[in-house]
Amino acid sequence: MKRTKIKDILLGEKANDTVVAKGWVRTKRGSKNVYFIALNDGSTIHNLQVVADVNNFDESLLREINTGAALSITGRLTESAGSGQNIELIAAQIELLGAADPEQYPIQPKKHSLEFLRENAHLRFRTNTFSAIFRIRHAMAFAIHKYFNGKGFNYLHTPIITASDAEGAGQMFRVSTLDPKNPPLTETGEIDYSQDFFGKPTNLTVSGQLEGELGAMALGEIYTFGPTFRAENSNTARHLAEFWMIEPEMAFYDLKDNMDLAEEFLKSLIQYALENCMDDLQFLASRLQQEEKDKPADQRSMDLIEKLKFVLENDFIRITYTEAIEILKNSTPYKKKKFQFPVEWGIDLQSEHERYLVEKHFKCPVILINYPKEIKAFYMKQNDDGKTVGAMDVLFPQIGEIIGGSQREENLEKLETRMREMNIPVEEMWWYLDTRRFGSVVHSGFGLGFERFILFVTGMGNIRDVIPFARTPKNAEF
Ligand code: 4AD
Ligand code: MG
Repeated sequence: MKRTKIKDILLGEKANDTVVAKGWVRTKRGSKNVYFIALNDGSTIHNLQVVADVNNFDESLLREINTGAALSITGRLTESAGSGQNIELIAAQIELLGAADPEQYPIQPKKHSLEFLRENAHLRFRTNTFSAIFRIRHAMAFAIHKYFNGKGFNYLHTPIITASDAEGAGQMFRVSTLDPKNPPLTETGEIDYSQDFFGKPTNLTVSGQLEGELGAMALGEIYTFGPTFRAENSNTARHLAEFWMIEPEMAFYDLKDNMDLAEEFLKSLIQYALENCMDDLQFLASRLQQEEKDKPADQRSMDLIEKLKFVLENDFIRITYTEAIEILKNSTPYKKKKFQFPVEWGIDLQSEHERYLVEKHFKCPVILINYPKEIKAFYMKQNDDGKTVGAMDVLFPQIGEIIGGSQREENLEKLETRMREMNIPVEEMWWYLDTRRFGSVVHSGFGLGFERFILFVTGMGNIRDVIPFARTPKNAEF
């Protein structure tokens, strides 16, 4: 007989149907005569309750029914008398697919710390929390493609290995096939990269934007969605060395169009989550409540589902960087010297400043625009004031910056001048500058950090918990 997924069994809920369910044992409770087995196959957060009459099965088989073991169970569905489920499976046949020694299996049916589960990331998918997170992560990846496809954007696969440093300042991972112990040297004693695989120094990309712009200048609207690498030594709950970024790039869009798209895009993803991931969201919402029940009321976060609905239903606040600095300078934490980092026109905002604006001042997502040109990348549109550029950061509660983007400088001369000022190798970037030489138009784009967004949707606090296998300084296990 063909296997039925547990999600379909629970949705179908037809008493007297005979089905085959396969999955992993979450828990087993039992009495002398009957076992209750909670079986999960990953198709849903809910378990299928299996009832096994002890007298019908070999003792040697029953001994193997432990948390973590994989079973195939054939039986008849009946309406459940117990609370918590409408239907249960009366086992007629049980086949042990894979045993799990209870002395050794790390994921016991009790509460484990997130740290412990990070060390057991290969098995943490088998917990309710992580299966919910990764089903939501999948749903959000799908919703991203659905959104852009619906708007006529083209998914463009930009390279992962690159010879340019898109952001102008990023720390990059080198890609090389030279022998690190004995690299070829030039006459002046430098490493001779002309003998390297690509004949020049190459790195893992920090952004697909520059190539994305090339696509947008012909296809009109493109987006990338791929892995991105940054070798900064930031050991925080918001940084990964390998993360996934979504970068739309649109011809004929100015900064306002860019903001409108970013807001509509984020809201469409949240709406998709509310429409398609409710079981998992409800589980994560109650998990969060459990976590925070000992905190004083004013330190508890808003209910997860309420929070998502709130973002969906309210306009994002849009202000300039200059206005944000004014607000921060008039704030209580600034006056009481509670901020760790200085607040001054010209400084890069720190996460404490971003979170003050979003969580305390506006209590709403904020889009900050027109940053000082000194703290932003070379390609951003130079404003008429000579001091600021058409940058746009979207700030979210609990996260801080979730999106970074801008209108792009489309004027060749202005762009080249800025590149020279910032020591960007103009000659090497001939291919990028060609878009400004031939048919240059106003265009804009942004980058959404996928994991930062998943943090927000799941209510998790550490970015290591929303990517299957995190890459962070001194950590590349699994
Ligand atoms: O602000 P960033 O550096 O912007 C760019 O890379 C532009 N090229 C995007 C564009 O305009 N096409 O990065 C964009 C977003 C950030 O807002 C943040 O959400 C995320 O990427 N991000 C990270 N996420 C996890 N770990 C890191 N180390 C991250 N660095 C940036
Ligand atoms: Mg940024």
